Amino acid sequence: MNILAIESSCDDTSAAVLAPTGVLSNVIASQSIHIKFGGVVPELASRAHQTTISQTVAQALDESKLTLDAIDLVAVTQGPGLMGSLLVGLCFAKGLALANHIPLVGVNHMDAHIYANFIDESPSFPFICLTVSGGHTQLVHVKAPFEHEILGSTRDDAAGEAFDKIGKILGLSYPAGPVMDKLSKEGDAKFHKFPQALLKEGLDFSFSGLKTSALYYTQAKEDAWVQEHLNDICASVSEAITEVLIKKLKRAVQQTGVETIAIAGGVSANSMLRAKAKKMADTMSLNLHIPKLSYCTDNAAMIAITGKMKAELGEYADMNMKPFASL
Ligand code: KG4
Ligand code: ZN
Repeated sequence: MNILAIESSCDDTSAAVLAPTGVLSNVIASQSIHIKFGGVVPELASRAHQTTISQTVAQALDESKLTLDAIDLVAVTQGPGLMGSLLVGLCFAKGLALANHIPLVGVNHMDAHIYANFIDESPSFPFICLTVSGGHTQLVHVKAPFEHEILGSTRDDAAGEAFDKIGKILGLSYPAGPVMDKLSKEGDAKFHKFPQALLKEGLDFSFSGLKTSALYYTQAKEDAWVQEHLNDICASVSEAITEVLIKKLKRAVQQTGVETIAIAGGVSANSMLRAKAKKMADTMSLNLHIPKLSYCTDNAAMIAITGKMKAELGEYADMNMKPFASL
């Protein structure tokens, strides 16, 4: 089965082609227009998707060296995400499928982050997936394909949101997660102890207190001092975020007794989180799966693999499929 997939849930327009031999193309058009606003502006995002979607899909097909008549399935993100952004991808996918008589499948973006782990590897079920992105932070017990139990999630900010908002406080450009990751590598993670919330309580997360703490901490210092110690502050913030994520992941493993863990979503690109997950897996003798970097942040290859798995279960969509912002 050759699959053409489209992802447009937030601020990246992406199209990919997946064949039985693997991913043939995975084109990502990121929208730089949001940088000056320090966050994604929904109306601008949907307009930019509309401008780039045709050429992104054409490029993905081009790079795959396949033509539309070789495509057996169109997979598209149905939600969650920004309504206007989702609409652009969904309408485009529907038009493509209808005009070319190709079956269509709708994909949940959060499922796709999890199943990105199946692009290059085959994790065995059951496993726990820590899904950490700009909008979500979830501990998911993946019992079988598409049989999920959310064991814990964030009560306020998502982990990626914490990186981005604290980065903004520190004067870093949006999205600050990757920038903080880079600066952290040169810093001392023990420079300052930022709070780690809800450590004694269950499997939920909270990052808003950390954000406030970082705000008060920097407001009490001179700007020049903050800039001088930027690497150390970034490393200390990264330490607080990743420690909580790993401690809760560990608790979820102990509660469920699974032998396999995975991490997914944009924040799974974080080097400190990846290193801590590896250490945890080695210490607890667990199988660990982490997608390669280009499949961590939003991309259509993860939509393709998830669409394939849904099609194999016979879960096709029809032309009545609607975008679902809070899916
Ligand atoms: O999954 P994703 O691309 O989009 C959503 O579905 O939200 O995740 C984007 C988030 C942003 O908050 C971004 O700052 C964060 O992932 N992120 C990172 C890194 N790369 C992306 N956070 C920390 N370290 C990174 N290397
Ligand atoms: Zn995402």
